[in-house]
Amino acid sequence: MAKLIINANEIITLRGSDKGPRTKEAMSELAILENSCVLIDQDHIAAVGTLEELQQDYSHLLEQAEVIDAAGKIVMPGLVDCHTHLVHGGTRENEFNMRLNGASYMEIMNAGGGIHSTAKSTRNASFEELYDKAYRHLNEFLKYGVTTVEAKSGYGLDWEHEKKQLEVAKKLQDTHAVDVISTFMGAHAVPREFKGREDEFVDIIIHEMLPKVAEEKLAEFNDVFCEKGVFTPEQSRKILEAGKQYGLTPKIHADEIEPYEGSELAAEVGAISAEHLLVASDEGIRRMAEAGTIGVLLPGTAFFLRAPFARGRLMIDCGVPIAISTDFNPGSSPTISLPFIMNLACMNMGLTLEEVLTASTINAAYAINRGHLIGSLEPGKKADILILNVSNYKQLQYYYGMNHTHMVLKNGEIVVKDAVLQ
Ligand code: NIG
Ligand code: FE
Repeated sequence: MAKLIINANEIITLRGSDKGPRTKEAMSELAILENSCVLIDQDHIAAVGTLEELQQDYSHLLEQAEVIDAAGKIVMPGLVDCHTHLVHGGTRENEFNMRLNGASYMEIMNAGGGIHSTAKSTRNASFEELYDKAYRHLNEFLKYGVTTVEAKSGYGLDWEHEKKQLEVAKKLQDTHAVDVISTFMGAHAVPREFKGREDEFVDIIIHEMLPKVAEEKLAEFNDVFCEKGVFTPEQSRKILEAGKQYGLTPKIHADEIEPYEGSELAAEVGAISAEHLLVASDEGIRRMAEAGTIGVLLPGTAFFLRAPFARGRLMIDCGVPIAISTDFNPGSSPTISLPFIMNLACMNMGLTLEEVLTASTINAAYAINRGHLIGSLEPGKKADILILNVSNYKQLQYYYGMNHTHMVLKNGEIVVKDAVLQ
Protein backbone atom coordinates (compact mmCIF):
# COMPACT_ATOMS: atom_id res chain seq x y z
CA MET A 1 0.00 0.00 0.00
CA ALA A 2 1.20 3.52 -0.76
CA LYS A 3 1.71 6.20 1.87
CA LEU A 4 2.07 9.94 1.50
CA ILE A 5 3.77 12.10 4.12
CA ILE A 6 2.51 15.67 3.90
CA ASN A 7 2.83 19.06 5.62
CA ALA A 8 6.30 18.56 7.14
CA ASN A 9 8.12 21.75 8.09
CA GLU A 10 11.30 20.33 6.61
CA ILE A 11 12.21 17.20 4.70
CA ILE A 12 15.90 16.47 5.23
CA THR A 13 16.52 14.51 2.03
CA LEU A 14 20.35 14.28 1.97
CA ARG A 15 19.86 13.49 -1.68
CA GLY A 16 22.80 13.07 -4.01
CA SER A 17 23.99 9.85 -2.42
CA ASP A 18 25.30 8.43 -5.69
CA LYS A 19 28.36 10.58 -5.08
CA GLY A 20 29.66 8.27 -2.36
CA PRO A 21 30.46 9.09 1.25
CA ARG A 22 30.53 12.82 1.87
CA THR A 23 33.59 14.81 2.75
CA LYS A 24 34.36 18.40 3.75
CA GLU A 25 31.63 20.92 2.73
CA ALA A 26 29.50 18.17 1.24
CA MET A 27 28.93 16.91 4.79
CA SER A 28 26.83 20.04 5.34
CA GLU A 29 24.56 19.60 2.32
CA LEU A 30 21.32 18.33 3.78
CA ALA A 31 19.21 19.16 0.70
CA ILE A 32 16.21 20.29 2.74
CA LEU A 33 12.83 20.64 1.07
CA GLU A 34 9.88 22.65 2.32
CA ASN A 35 6.30 22.44 1.03
CA SER A 36 7.03 18.94 -0.19
CA CYS A 37 5.88 15.36 0.36
CA VAL A 38 7.37 11.89 0.47
CA LEU A 39 5.53 9.23 -1.50
CA ILE A 40 6.10 5.63 -0.46
CA ASP A 41 5.32 2.65 -2.65
CA GLN A 42 5.25 -0.50 -0.51
CA ASP A 43 8.78 -0.83 0.92
CA HIS A 44 10.57 1.92 -1.00
CA ILE A 45 10.45 5.64 -1.69
CA ALA A 46 8.69 6.39 -4.97
CA ALA A 47 9.20 10.15 -5.05
CA VAL A 48 10.00 13.25 -3.01
CA GLY A 49 8.69 16.61 -4.18
CA THR A 50 5.76 19.04 -4.19
CA LEU A 51 2.27 17.60 -4.49
CA GLU A 52 2.00 19.18 -7.94
CA GLU A 53 5.15 17.41 -9.07
CA LEU A 54 3.99 14.07 -7.70
CA GLN A 55 0.57 14.42 -9.32
CA GLN A 56 2.17 14.46 -12.76
CA ASP A 57 3.75 11.00 -12.56
CA TYR A 58 2.22 9.25 -9.59
CA SER A 59 -1.53 9.95 -9.66
CA HIS A 60 -2.23 6.19 -9.55
CA LEU A 61 -0.32 5.83 -6.26
CA LEU A 62 -1.63 9.08 -4.78
CA GLU A 63 -5.24 7.96 -5.23
CA GLN A 64 -4.87 5.02 -2.89
CA ALA A 65 -2.20 6.43 -0.58
CA GLU A 66 -2.65 6.51 3.19
CA VAL A 67 -1.93 10.10 4.21
CA ILE A 68 0.41 10.77 7.13
CA ASP A 69 0.26 14.32 8.45
CA ALA A 70 3.65 15.61 9.63
CA ALA A 71 2.49 19.18 10.33
CA GLY A 72 4.87 21.02 12.64
CA LYS A 73 7.42 18.21 12.43
CA ILE A 74 10.45 17.26 10.39
CA VAL A 75 11.05 14.21 8.22
CA MET A 76 14.43 12.57 7.71
CA PRO A 77 16.03 9.22 6.80
CA GLY A 78 16.18 6.52 9.48
CA LEU A 79 19.39 6.69 11.53
CA VAL A 80 22.10 4.16 10.74
CA ASP A 81 24.20 2.85 13.64
CA CYS A 82 27.22 1.45 11.82
CA HIS A 83 29.25 0.13 14.79
CA THR A 84 27.73 -1.88 17.63
CA HIS A 85 28.48 -4.96 19.68
CA LEU A 86 24.75 -5.72 19.81
CA VAL A 87 24.77 -9.42 20.70
CA HIS A 88 26.31 -10.10 24.10
CA GLY A 89 25.61 -11.64 27.47
CA GLY A 90 25.71 -9.92 30.86
CA THR A 91 26.35 -6.38 32.03
CA ARG A 92 29.40 -4.62 33.52
CA GLU A 93 28.11 -1.92 35.88
CA ASN A 94 30.57 -3.12 38.56
CA GLU A 95 33.48 -2.31 36.26
CA PHE A 96 31.96 1.10 35.65
CA ASN A 97 32.15 1.70 39.38
CA MET A 98 35.73 0.36 39.48
CA ARG A 99 36.64 2.90 36.81
CA LEU A 100 34.93 5.66 38.78
CA ASN A 101 37.17 4.57 41.66
CA GLY A 102 40.30 5.00 39.54
CA ALA A 103 40.90 1.72 37.67
CA SER A 104 41.58 1.99 33.93
CA TYR A 105 39.76 0.14 31.15
CA MET A 106 42.88 -1.77 30.09
CA GLU A 107 43.82 -2.64 33.70
CA ILE A 108 40.40 -4.20 34.19
CA MET A 109 40.69 -6.11 30.92
CA ASN A 110 44.21 -7.36 31.65
CA ALA A 111 43.00 -8.62 35.02
CA GLY A 112 40.43 -10.82 33.30
CA GLY A 113 37.51 -8.38 33.27
CA GLY A 114 36.43 -6.18 30.38
CA ILE A 115 35.93 -8.04 27.13
CA HIS A 116 36.93 -11.30 28.92
CA SER A 117 34.11 -10.85 31.40
CA THR A 118 31.54 -10.36 28.61
CA ALA A 119 33.08 -13.29 26.72
CA LYS A 120 32.40 -15.48 29.76
CA SER A 121 28.78 -14.29 30.04
CA THR A 122 28.28 -14.67 26.29
CA ARG A 123 29.68 -18.20 26.24
CA ASN A 124 27.44 -19.13 29.17
CA ALA A 125 24.29 -17.64 27.64
CA SER A 126 22.02 -19.77 25.47
CA PHE A 127 21.12 -18.78 21.92
CA GLU A 128 17.64 -17.80 23.13
CA GLU A 129 18.95 -15.67 25.98
CA LEU A 130 21.27 -13.76 23.65
CA TYR A 131 18.51 -13.40 21.09
CA ASP A 132 15.94 -12.08 23.59
CA LYS A 133 18.37 -9.57 25.09
CA ALA A 134 19.49 -8.24 21.69
CA TYR A 135 15.86 -8.17 20.48
CA ARG A 136 14.91 -5.91 23.39
CA HIS A 137 17.86 -3.65 22.64
CA LEU A 138 16.78 -3.42 19.00
CA ASN A 139 13.34 -2.30 20.18
CA GLU A 140 15.03 0.55 22.03
CA PHE A 141 17.15 1.44 18.98
CA LEU A 142 13.98 1.66 16.92
CA LYS A 143 12.27 3.96 19.43
CA TYR A 144 15.23 6.32 19.03
CA GLY A 145 14.89 6.28 15.26
CA VAL A 146 17.63 3.80 14.37
CA THR A 147 16.49 1.59 11.48
CA THR A 148 19.77 -0.18 10.61
CA VAL A 149 22.38 -1.53 13.01
CA GLU A 150 25.73 -3.14 12.33
CA ALA A 151 26.48 -5.94 14.82
CA LYS A 152 29.91 -7.37 15.59
CA SER A 153 30.68 -10.74 17.06
CA GLY A 154 33.78 -10.99 19.25
CA TYR A 155 32.49 -12.12 22.62
CA GLY A 156 32.64 -15.81 21.77
CA LEU A 157 36.35 -15.96 20.95
CA ASP A 158 36.08 -19.60 19.94
CA TRP A 159 34.24 -20.93 16.93
CA GLU A 160 31.29 -22.44 18.80
CA HIS A 161 30.41 -19.17 20.48
CA GLU A 162 31.40 -16.78 17.69
CA LYS A 163 29.06 -18.80 15.48
CA LYS A 164 26.32 -18.57 18.12
CA GLN A 165 26.63 -14.76 18.20
CA LEU A 166 26.62 -14.50 14.40
CA GLU A 167 23.62 -16.81 14.13
CA VAL A 168 21.73 -14.71 16.68
CA ALA A 169 22.45 -11.65 14.52
CA LYS A 170 21.21 -13.54 11.48
CA LYS A 171 17.95 -14.53 13.20
CA LEU A 172 17.47 -10.93 14.36
CA GLN A 173 17.87 -9.79 10.77
CA ASP A 174 15.13 -12.24 9.78
CA THR A 175 12.74 -11.42 12.61
CA HIS A 176 13.21 -7.84 13.82
CA ALA A 177 12.15 -4.72 11.92
CA VAL A 178 15.61 -3.19 12.33
CA ASP A 179 18.10 -4.35 9.69
CA VAL A 180 21.08 -6.09 11.29
CA ILE A 181 24.32 -6.15 9.27
CA SER A 182 26.87 -8.64 10.51
CA THR A 183 30.60 -8.22 11.16
CA PHE A 184 32.89 -11.03 12.29
CA MET A 185 35.22 -9.85 15.04
CA GLY A 186 36.91 -13.00 16.28
CA ALA A 187 39.95 -10.79 16.81
CA HIS A 188 38.30 -8.72 19.55
CA ALA A 189 40.58 -10.06 22.29
CA VAL A 190 43.00 -12.93 22.79
CA PRO A 191 41.03 -15.38 24.96
CA ARG A 192 42.49 -16.07 28.39
CA GLU A 193 43.31 -19.66 27.50
CA PHE A 194 45.68 -18.41 24.74
CA LYS A 195 47.70 -16.08 26.97
CA GLY A 196 51.31 -16.25 25.79
CA ARG A 197 50.23 -18.08 22.62
CA GLU A 198 48.71 -15.09 20.82
CA ASP A 199 49.98 -16.10 17.37
CA GLU A 200 48.32 -19.50 17.72
CA PHE A 201 45.01 -17.75 18.22
CA VAL A 202 45.67 -15.56 15.18
CA ASP A 203 46.27 -18.74 13.16
CA ILE A 204 42.98 -20.22 14.38
CA ILE A 205 41.13 -17.10 13.27
CA ILE A 206 42.81 -17.19 9.88
CA HIS A 207 42.71 -20.90 9.12
CA GLU A 208 39.64 -22.10 11.01
CA MET A 209 37.21 -19.29 11.73
CA LEU A 210 37.40 -17.04 8.66
CA PRO A 211 36.79 -19.91 6.17
CA LYS A 212 33.71 -20.98 8.15
CA VAL A 213 32.34 -17.44 8.42
CA ALA A 214 32.60 -17.17 4.65
CA GLU A 215 31.29 -20.66 3.91
CA GLU A 216 28.25 -20.22 6.14
CA LYS A 217 27.77 -16.62 4.93
CA LEU A 218 27.61 -15.34 8.50
CA ALA A 219 29.16 -11.90 7.99
CA GLU A 220 30.09 -9.27 5.42
CA PHE A 221 32.87 -7.54 7.32
CA ASN A 222 35.95 -8.59 9.28
CA ASP A 223 37.05 -6.38 12.18
CA VAL A 224 40.14 -6.44 14.45
CA PHE A 225 40.91 -4.68 17.74
CA CYS A 226 44.37 -3.35 16.85
CA GLU A 227 45.58 -2.11 20.23
CA LYS A 228 48.65 -2.40 22.42
CA GLY A 229 48.17 -5.57 24.50
CA VAL A 230 45.47 -6.92 22.17
CA PHE A 231 46.43 -7.45 18.47
CA THR A 232 49.56 -5.88 17.00
CA PRO A 233 49.42 -4.06 13.65
CA GLU A 234 51.25 -7.04 12.13
CA GLN A 235 48.72 -9.58 13.46
CA SER A 236 45.86 -7.27 12.48
CA ARG A 237 47.20 -6.94 8.93
CA LYS A 238 47.37 -10.73 8.56
CA ILE A 239 43.83 -11.22 9.81
CA LEU A 240 42.39 -8.47 7.61
CA GLU A 241 44.28 -9.64 4.51
CA ALA A 242 43.12 -13.22 5.14
CA GLY A 243 39.53 -12.02 5.48
CA LYS A 244 39.78 -10.33 2.09
CA GLN A 245 40.64 -13.70 0.53
CA TYR A 246 37.28 -14.92 1.81
CA GLY A 247 35.39 -11.91 0.52
CA LEU A 248 35.11 -10.19 3.90
CA THR A 249 35.58 -6.42 3.82
CA PRO A 250 38.08 -5.11 6.39
CA LYS A 251 37.12 -2.82 9.25
CA ILE A 252 39.40 -1.96 12.13
CA HIS A 253 39.18 -0.75 15.73
CA ALA A 254 42.08 1.67 15.40
CA ASP A 255 44.01 3.99 17.72
CA GLU A 256 41.43 3.77 20.50
CA ILE A 257 43.47 3.78 23.71
CA GLU A 258 47.05 4.30 22.50
CA PRO A 259 48.34 5.42 19.10
CA TYR A 260 49.27 2.19 17.29
CA GLU A 261 49.21 3.05 13.59
CA GLY A 262 45.79 1.48 13.18
CA SER A 263 44.52 4.27 10.94
CA GLU A 264 47.58 3.93 8.71
CA LEU A 265 46.91 0.19 8.54
CA ALA A 266 43.26 0.79 7.62
CA ALA A 267 44.34 2.91 4.67
CA GLU A 268 46.97 0.37 3.66
CA VAL A 269 44.68 -2.68 3.59
CA GLY A 270 41.84 -0.76 1.93
CA ALA A 271 39.51 -1.04 4.94
CA ILE A 272 36.05 0.42 4.32
CA SER A 273 36.36 2.16 7.69
CA ALA A 274 38.63 2.78 10.65
CA GLU A 275 36.73 3.11 13.88
CA HIS A 276 37.30 4.93 17.21
CA LEU A 277 40.45 6.94 16.23
CA LEU A 278 40.60 8.74 19.59
CA VAL A 279 44.36 9.08 19.34
CA ALA A 280 44.90 8.72 15.58
CA SER A 281 48.08 10.45 14.36
CA ASP A 282 48.22 13.32 11.88
CA GLU A 283 49.83 10.94 9.40
CA GLY A 284 47.09 8.34 9.92
CA ILE A 285 44.42 10.97 9.28
CA ARG A 286 46.21 12.13 6.14
CA ARG A 287 46.43 8.58 4.80
CA MET A 288 42.78 7.87 5.54
CA ALA A 289 41.77 10.99 3.61
CA GLU A 290 43.94 9.91 0.70
CA ALA A 291 42.55 6.36 0.69
CA GLY A 292 38.93 7.45 1.25
CA THR A 293 38.70 5.34 4.43
CA ILE A 294 35.59 6.29 6.39
CA GLY A 295 36.34 7.41 9.94
CA VAL A 296 33.68 5.97 12.25
CA LEU A 297 33.76 8.10 15.39
CA LEU A 298 32.27 6.83 18.63
CA PRO A 299 32.06 9.72 21.08
CA GLY A 300 30.09 7.65 23.59
CA THR A 301 33.21 5.59 24.25
CA ALA A 302 35.39 8.63 24.95
CA PHE A 303 32.62 9.99 27.19
CA PHE A 304 32.13 6.77 29.12
CA LEU A 305 35.85 5.95 29.43
CA ARG A 306 36.71 9.59 30.14
CA ALA A 307 39.22 9.41 27.30
CA PRO A 308 40.13 12.13 24.79
CA PHE A 309 37.61 12.64 22.01
CA ALA A 310 38.66 11.86 18.45
CA ARG A 311 39.65 14.93 16.44
CA GLY A 312 36.54 14.93 14.30
CA ARG A 313 36.79 18.56 13.21
CA LEU A 314 40.35 18.10 11.98
CA MET A 315 39.45 14.86 10.21
CA ILE A 316 36.59 16.50 8.31
CA ASP A 317 38.78 19.48 7.41
CA CYS A 318 41.44 17.06 6.15
CA GLY A 319 38.90 15.32 3.90
CA VAL A 320 38.14 12.12 5.84
CA PRO A 321 34.49 11.07 5.35
CA ILE A 322 33.12 10.85 8.89
CA ALA A 323 30.36 8.64 10.27
CA ILE A 324 29.31 8.44 13.91
CA SER A 325 27.88 5.59 15.87
CA THR A 326 27.06 4.43 19.40
CA ASP A 327 29.58 1.55 19.71
CA PHE A 328 26.81 0.03 21.85
CA ASN A 329 28.50 -2.57 24.08
CA PRO A 330 28.41 -3.52 27.77
CA GLY A 331 31.85 -2.11 28.64
CA SER A 332 32.78 1.14 26.97
CA SER A 333 29.46 2.48 25.67
CA PRO A 334 26.27 0.96 27.06
CA THR A 335 23.83 3.24 25.27
CA ILE A 336 21.54 2.79 22.29
CA SER A 337 20.78 6.51 22.03
CA LEU A 338 22.34 7.59 18.76
CA PRO A 339 20.77 11.07 19.16
CA PHE A 340 22.72 11.50 22.42
CA ILE A 341 25.89 10.34 20.64
CA MET A 342 25.19 12.92 17.92
CA ASN A 343 25.08 15.57 20.60
CA LEU A 344 28.42 14.42 22.03
CA ALA A 345 29.93 14.69 18.53
CA CYS A 346 28.78 18.31 18.31
CA MET A 347 29.86 19.27 21.79
CA ASN A 348 33.18 17.43 21.97
CA MET A 349 34.41 16.75 18.44
CA GLY A 350 33.43 20.02 16.83
CA LEU A 351 30.93 18.65 14.33
CA THR A 352 28.18 21.03 13.23
CA LEU A 353 24.45 20.32 13.34
CA GLU A 354 24.52 19.55 9.62
CA GLU A 355 27.60 17.33 9.77
CA VAL A 356 26.23 15.08 12.53
CA LEU A 357 23.13 14.40 10.47
CA THR A 358 25.23 13.37 7.48
CA ALA A 359 27.50 11.31 9.73
CA SER A 360 24.64 9.32 11.23
CA THR A 361 22.73 8.70 7.99
CA ILE A 362 24.34 8.59 4.56
CA ASN A 363 27.99 8.32 5.65
CA ALA A 364 27.11 5.65 8.21
CA ALA A 365 25.27 3.80 5.44
CA TYR A 366 28.42 3.89 3.31
CA ALA A 367 30.47 2.59 6.25
CA ILE A 368 28.44 -0.64 6.00
CA ASN A 369 28.31 -0.66 2.22
CA ARG A 370 24.64 0.36 2.11
CA GLY A 371 24.99 3.87 0.66
CA HIS A 372 22.94 2.84 -2.37
CA LEU A 373 20.04 1.54 -0.27
CA ILE A 374 19.59 3.71 2.82
CA GLY A 375 20.75 6.94 4.47
CA SER A 376 18.86 9.46 2.32
CA LEU A 377 15.34 10.10 1.07
CA GLU A 378 15.57 9.43 -2.65
CA PRO A 379 13.46 7.49 -5.12
CA GLY A 380 14.28 3.78 -5.10
CA LYS A 381 15.75 3.74 -1.61
CA LYS A 382 14.23 1.80 1.26
CA ALA A 383 11.38 3.67 2.92
CA ASP A 384 13.21 3.94 6.28
CA ILE A 385 11.86 7.27 7.44
CA LEU A 386 11.59 9.25 10.68
CA ILE A 387 9.03 11.87 11.59
CA LEU A 388 10.39 13.88 14.50
CA ASN A 389 8.71 16.13 17.03
CA VAL A 390 10.81 19.24 16.35
CA SER A 391 10.07 22.14 14.05
CA ASN A 392 13.47 22.28 12.39
CA TYR A 393 16.59 20.09 12.29
CA LYS A 394 18.64 22.45 14.47
CA GLN A 395 16.35 21.68 17.42
CA LEU A 396 17.38 18.01 17.31
CA GLN A 397 20.63 18.72 19.16
CA TYR A 398 19.51 21.95 20.80
CA TYR A 399 16.91 20.06 22.83
CA TYR A 400 19.48 17.49 23.85
CA GLY A 401 19.10 14.27 25.80
CA MET A 402 15.50 13.87 24.65
CA ASN A 403 13.86 11.40 22.34
CA HIS A 404 12.19 13.38 19.55
CA THR A 405 10.80 10.38 17.69
CA HIS A 406 7.17 10.70 16.70
CA MET A 407 6.94 8.05 14.00
CA VAL A 408 9.29 5.52 12.42
CA LEU A 409 8.62 3.82 9.10
CA LYS A 410 10.73 0.78 8.29
CA ASN A 411 10.49 -0.64 4.77
CA GLY A 412 7.37 1.51 4.41
CA GLU A 413 5.62 0.07 7.48
CA ILE A 414 4.79 2.15 10.53
CA VAL A 415 6.76 0.53 13.34
CA VAL A 416 6.70 3.38 15.87
CA LYS A 417 3.67 5.64 16.20
CA ASP A 418 3.17 8.47 18.70
CA ALA A 419 6.56 7.39 20.06
CA VAL A 420 5.19 3.91 20.88
CA LEU A 421 6.40 0.65 19.32
CA GLN A 422 3.68 -0.93 17.17
O1 NIG B 1 34.60 -0.80 20.72
N1 NIG B 1 37.49 -1.64 21.82
C1 NIG B 1 37.07 -2.76 21.80
N2 NIG B 1 35.82 -3.12 21.81
C2 NIG B 1 34.75 -2.38 22.34
C3 NIG B 1 34.62 -2.54 23.82
C4 NIG B 1 34.20 -3.86 24.15
C5 NIG B 1 33.99 -4.09 25.62
O2 NIG B 1 34.54 -3.38 26.49
O3 NIG B 1 33.25 -5.04 25.88
C6 NIG B 1 34.81 -0.96 21.89
O4 NIG B 1 35.05 -0.03 22.66
FE1 FE C 1 33.62 -1.24 19.17
